[in-house]
Amino acid sequence: MTRPSAVPPPVTAVLDASSRWLPSRLGEVEDLLREQGRDHGERLGAEAATTLAAGGKRLRPLLVLLCAGVDGGEAAVRAAAAIELVHMATLVHDDVLDDAPLRRGLPTVAATAGRDRAVAVGDLLFSRAFVLLATHGDARAIALLARASVALAGGELAQRQDAFDAGVSEQRYLDRCRLKTGALFECACLLGHDTEALGAFGAQIGLAFQLLDDVLDVSGPPERTGKARGTDLLDGTVTLPLIAAAAADPELRKVDLHKLDARNAEQLCDRIAATGALEEVRSRALAMVGAAKEKLASAAFDPEQRHLLELVADGVVQRYS
Ligand code: IPE
Ligand code: IPE
Ligand code: MG
Ligand code: MG
Repeated sequence: MTRPSAVPPPVTAVLDASSRWLPSRLGEVEDLLREQGRDHGERLGAEAATTLAAGGKRLRPLLVLLCAGVDGGEAAVRAAAAIELVHMATLVHDDVLDDAPLRRGLPTVAATAGRDRAVAVGDLLFSRAFVLLATHGDARAIALLARASVALAGGELAQRQDAFDAGVSEQRYLDRCRLKTGALFECACLLGHDTEALGAFGAQIGLAFQLLDDVLDVSGPPERTGKARGTDLLDGTVTLPLIAAAAADPELRKVDLHKLDARNAEQLCDRIAATGALEEVRSRALAMVGAAKEKLASAAFDPEQRHLLELVADGVVQRYS
């Protein structure tokens, strides 16, 4: 059993508070993940393994394990590994769609191996997730993960459809975030335990997570986020920080994202930040986290489990990577 190599906050706080059982379970998830790059030819396997080894917060597996609780067993470990594989697959594909240079502080698969190989690596990771579940007959988990994958793909497609549309509405933006990010967080919780309140909690912190991610895209710094600053803008993706900033500074509505390059993308990030929009979006994400925690309060959870889930919820908005 191996412990995750570099566990970033907010995961550390949760691990510290649950050292009795959670770190060893997450170690089992890592072991399963490492096995998934095998048997696919040297190069493809190596690219998939490098992607997995690059780390990441492992938030979705953490949620699966926490919601499953101490008695979660092997099915929870498999579901946790499977959801991280789907997550990783979507990141590798997302970096093709977004033309992103950097992920987890390293060049993306698309940047190092090219777009075609990145599509293949993503497909491999995605397929391995379902093989892992199918081998053990985890039909409920397959159905949940398939549903979330469909939502995620729909969210990514909607985002592409909206690209470079400066007039995109806040409602449309929020719907996109629910699909591309909220659905997988909801799925993580439901994989752990089939409780309506847990699903609603997951969906809500997932939405807050994406809002914060979109703040970090504008604020950086890359040394802390592990991603390039302004990737969303360069790619034509209009997010809540820009929508909120344009409400405060109407001149921003006239900006043509087609004309951006790396240098003036940084300047546009600074202009967005100067309006106070980042604080505004951050506090909206915080309010969403507060609402998510209330969903837990209304259901009868084990107090330790609830405390740990609240720590994860707080971590969603108190982070840089
Ligand atoms: C990145 O997710 C994709 C989004 C939904 C914003 P994470 O920030 O959880 O990625 P890793 O796994 O920690 O790198
Ligand atoms: C989330 O959106 C991507 C997925 C849900 C796959 P982003 O495009 O903002 O995620 P990052 O910033 O590249 O991690
Ligand atoms: Mg992206
Ligand atoms: Mg982002």
